Amino acid sequence: MVSRPRGVAKRLRTPARRWRAGVLLGAGNALNLLVRLYGDTDKLSHGYLPHYETHVGPRRFDSMLVFEIGVGGYESLTPGGSLAVWRDYFFRSRIVGLDIEDKLVRLGSRVAFERADQNSHEDLRAVVARHGVPDIVIDDGSHVGAHIRATFEFLWPQMRAGSIYVIEDLSTSYYPSYDGGDPPPPSSAIALLQSMVDSVQAQDNTFDRYPEWGTRSAPAHADLQALHVYPGIAFIVKG
Ligand SMILES: C[S@@+](CC[C@H](N)C(=O)[O-])C[C@H]1O[C@@H](n2cnc3c(N)ncnc32)[C@H](O)[C@@H]1O
Repeated sequence: MVSRPRGVAKRLRTPARRWRAGVLLGAGNALNLLVRLYGDTDKLSHGYLPHYETHVGPRRFDSMLVFEIGVGGYESLTPGGSLAVWRDYFFRSRIVGLDIEDKLVRLGSRVAFERADQNSHEDLRAVVARHGVPDIVIDDGSHVGAHIRATFEFLWPQMRAGSIYVIEDLSTSYYPSYDGGDPPPPSSAIALLQSMVDSVQAQDNTFDRYPEWGTRSAPAHADLQALHVYPGIAFIVKG
């Protein structure tokens, strides 16, 4: 016997109904439920969602350009759930998914897909030329330190004040299979974040008020307002 969907599952049977429900859940900052609506992303199991709600949630009503690097799983044409989640969460924004592999993304006119290697400034330049400079970047791509750094080095200087840059799956900085190690090497995402701590602290006005106490070295990232680091994920805020 074929089982029929009942209750909530029945009401959310069509993509249009899921989309409407998703926008309502997004407006309520219920990212946890929104991710469950679409499934097929590991952001829930990693425990990242409360941090997204805290750091990007306040921007969800804005009209922005959001890039997510890494769309769906490896060697799969399907886009996974994360782009649908961002479409509904940032319901006034345009979403661009970037991946080195081709993906079949059909999520309405606000969601675009670009085949691009995050390690190639030429590819990133073409994406920015087509869509503009992003307000939010979510790097969930190759997780190789050199690639993460190449992407950040290209996009960050162009991003406006108030923009947010997210790097996921930081554990890979510790894995040799991702060119990482313990301790993480200078090429890793963790080393990049460590240099950002210096950049944030260099802005402490104590250095100007009490120059006789000592000098500070010039910050590597002068426009970095805040850095929020949690297990596996970092949120970088531009000043
Ligand atoms: C972890 S999955 C993305 C998961 C997705 N963001 C989600 O939450 O469901 C990683 C993706 O990064 C892509 N990728 C790997 N290397 C890349 C590169 N150099 N540039 C862009 N994308 C890359 C892979 O093809 C894969 O689809």
